[in-house]
Amino acid sequence: MRIGLIGAGRIGTLHAEVLNRLETVEEIVVADTDTDRAIALSSKLNASHVEDPAELFSTVDAIVIASSTETHAPYLIDTAAAGLPTFCEKPISKDLGSMDSAATAVNASGIMVQMGFMRRFDVGYRTAHELIAQGALGDVMLVQAQTHDFEPPPAEYIAVSGGIFPDMLIHEFDILRFVTGQEVLEVTATGSTHGLPVFGEFEDISTAVVTAKLDGGTLAVITGVRTDPHGYDVRMEVFGTADSVAIGLDPHTPIRTLDAGLDLPRDPVTVGWLERFGAAYTAEMEAFVNTVANNGPSPCTVDDACAAQVVAEACRRSRETNRPVLIEEFS
Ligand SMILES: NC(=O)c1ccc[n+]([C@@H]2O[C@H](COP(=O)([O-])OP(=O)(O)OC[C@H]3O[C@@H](n4cnc5c(N)ncnc54)[C@H](O)[C@@H]3O)[C@@H](O)[C@H]2O)c1
Repeated sequence: MRIGLIGAGRIGTLHAEVLNRLETVEEIVVADTDTDRAIALSSKLNASHVEDPAELFSTVDAIVIASSTETHAPYLIDTAAAGLPTFCEKPISKDLGSMDSAATAVNASGIMVQMGFMRRFDVGYRTAHELIAQGALGDVMLVQAQTHDFEPPPAEYIAVSGGIFPDMLIHEFDILRFVTGQEVLEVTATGSTHGLPVFGEFEDISTAVVTAKLDGGTLAVITGVRTDPHGYDVRMEVFGTADSVAIGLDPHTPIRTLDAGLDLPRDPVTVGWLERFGAAYTAEMEAFVNTVANNGPSPCTVDDACAAQVVAEACRRSRETNRPVLIEEFS
């Protein structure tokens, strides 16, 4: 299989390294508007590169879109027109108009698109999803979830990210739907730039708190912080009438306990994405290549990504207008 990789930045490099290890992948062709990056990555992998990403659409079997967020929707429209199965990083876009255009093009074309919500391939989140589907937790009353970045992204990334809700907390909105099997009905969101004023320069926030009501009766509290001195701390706790479970809580979780008799965390502390989600990034790319090879259904569709993005947009509106926002306001 020949894979065209668009975007040779942080996540594109990670995906390329995984693809390079897969036997079914015969060739990777890299494209990036920063040609030096495309050349550097392709030579590191012994792959090839093209100057213009458009050259890929007639020469490869599948596309991986890992370029900056504002390019995802136009490239999805291109891959739909070319009839190519596509892996696309989250989010689909920074605004709902271009999200809808891309989703319409993908769904009309019938191409398989797998969105980059790698947490769906993490063992802990998958197990929670299965336990809840089996009813093993009883009625799920409350979900508490958090994404705390280790180091904040660079200013040039903040400028084009779309903001904390569609850029970072969208992972929480997707995994909340996946784990609970419920849809979000209403959100209330607030935020601040306390401690990281640089985010204010881009009309963004660095700390966010979201409360959500789900259609099965569950309530959720989600927090996001753009820096954490100990490392990348991504967790979820699910409280049911029959059981309570935690995901991402282990002796290496990057938080210092003050309780007597415990000496946590232990080395190595989880400091980055790779320590926390390395296995999930590998599993999601293996799943993509296998799905393409077997002509199977997407494990994480564009419609899933649209649902998470609408929740992100509702959070933005809630924070800006200082009121609870119903998801149906966007239908
Ligand atoms: N799933 C995850 O956990 C995860 C993690 C990080 C980033 N992401 C997503 O991946 C995307 C890229 O993030 P990143 O951290 O790698 O950013 P990055 O800035 O490191 O890399 C982006 C790359 O895209 C290239 N690019 C920009 N416009 C292009 C175009 N029109 N055509 C081809 N290449 C173009 C840039 O030159 C750069 O090399 C973002 O949308 C981000 O939300 C997802």
